[in-house]
Amino acid sequence: MSTILLAGGAGYIGSHTAVELINSGYDVVVADNYSNSCPEAVKRVEEITGKSVKTYEVDIKDTEKLETVFIENKIDAVIHFAGLKAVGESVEKPVLYYRNNIDTTLALLECMNKYSVKNMIFSSSATVYGEENPVPYTEQMKRGTCTNPYGWTKVMMEQILEDAAKADKELSVVLLRYFNPIGAHESGKIGEDPQGIPNNLMPYVAQVAVGRREKLTIFGKDYDTPDGTCRRDYIHVVDLAKGHVKAIDYILKNNGVEIFNLGTGTPYSVTEIVDTFEKATGVKINHVYGDRRAGDLPESYANADKALAVLGWKTEKTLEDMCKDTWNWQSNNPNGYKK
Ligand code: NAD
Ligand code: UD1
Repeated sequence: MSTILLAGGAGYIGSHTAVELINSGYDVVVADNYSNSCPEAVKRVEEITGKSVKTYEVDIKDTEKLETVFIENKIDAVIHFAGLKAVGESVEKPVLYYRNNIDTTLALLECMNKYSVKNMIFSSSATVYGEENPVPYTEQMKRGTCTNPYGWTKVMMEQILEDAAKADKELSVVLLRYFNPIGAHESGKIGEDPQGIPNNLMPYVAQVAVGRREKLTIFGKDYDTPDGTCRRDYIHVVDLAKGHVKAIDYILKNNGVEIFNLGTGTPYSVTEIVDTFEKATGVKINHVYGDRRAGDLPESYANADKALAVLGWKTEKTLEDMCKDTWNWQSNNPNGYKK
């Protein structure tokens, strides 16, 4: 049985991926400093799967401490989720973002090299397509110009990983470019638990629904899109997690560097999200229209053909599932993991 190290595995996408990997027969080890998560998330993973999960509280930048994880476990592959991800905060604190995101990547690569771990899957983002590529995005497009330091860290980390794989022919790298993950596990036990005021659309909608926020502001209604609001490729986090299982199956058998978009290929507008949420849950979302948000693109969505052709993966869940599962998680856990 192969053992997968989930760096940042207590977070939103990592916890859902842990469930799907365990359910597919993999052993997982979680390493996290809980800077944007908590041990309770891992406990919930254990509740869902009925398996115990070996966990290390460690800052992944700290190569020496990270080594313990590699010494005590025979790791077959690493999935690198450990990063800071708030776009606005990255503009205010660029050095923090470059330090955390780049150094976690370098520390993982150093340990992997030292302990002969040759498989790395990286959490990248559609943000690397930048401003100049046309939608739908395909993997062979060049990385574009980002509007914020968070996006640049993803561009840089993709480059670092490609260079490392070029230098070490035994090192395999899969770059997964996520589109907009939303939703939660159908059990309602794990989900997205942002600290403070949510930056992203769906957690904000969910907090308005549960009464934690008064109203949603829709950023801009004068875009060149069918209803004037921005369109995105929203993907259910469980579909996304299953994409990681397929990527692990793949990387354990294949060598080289591959890039995959993980999206549905179908864009929805902000207004469609609000309407679908209301219909799926029966809860009204108080909303107003406001100015455009700086840095937002009118549209972002994937061409997801490559993941289907190579990994045999495609999304199964609908936008209605995404809304229902978000609401199930939020209404069962109005304050997230905090009791
Ligand atoms: P998250 O914040 O819930 O999870 C990231 C985890 O990494 C957290 O548990 C955090 O505590 C941990 N972490 C951060 N820095 C660390 C460090 N130095 N040492 C140890 N642990 C550390 O975020 P998520 O939504 O699960 O995202 C996971 C990855 O996917 C991130 O790299 C993110 O940039 C990327 N991504 C996310 C989205 C999205 O919309 N959620 C979209 C594209 C890409
Ligand atoms: C954002 C980031 C992206 C990152 C992704 C996941 C920006 C410019 N991009 O993507 O780099 O990878 O999150 O973390 O921040 N919206 C509202 N009202 C709100 C919140 C959002 O109308 O209160 C709209 C936005 O204008 C956008 C859509 O909802 O059109 C989705 O926004 P969001 O969830 O923040 O994701 P992205 O902007 O696509």
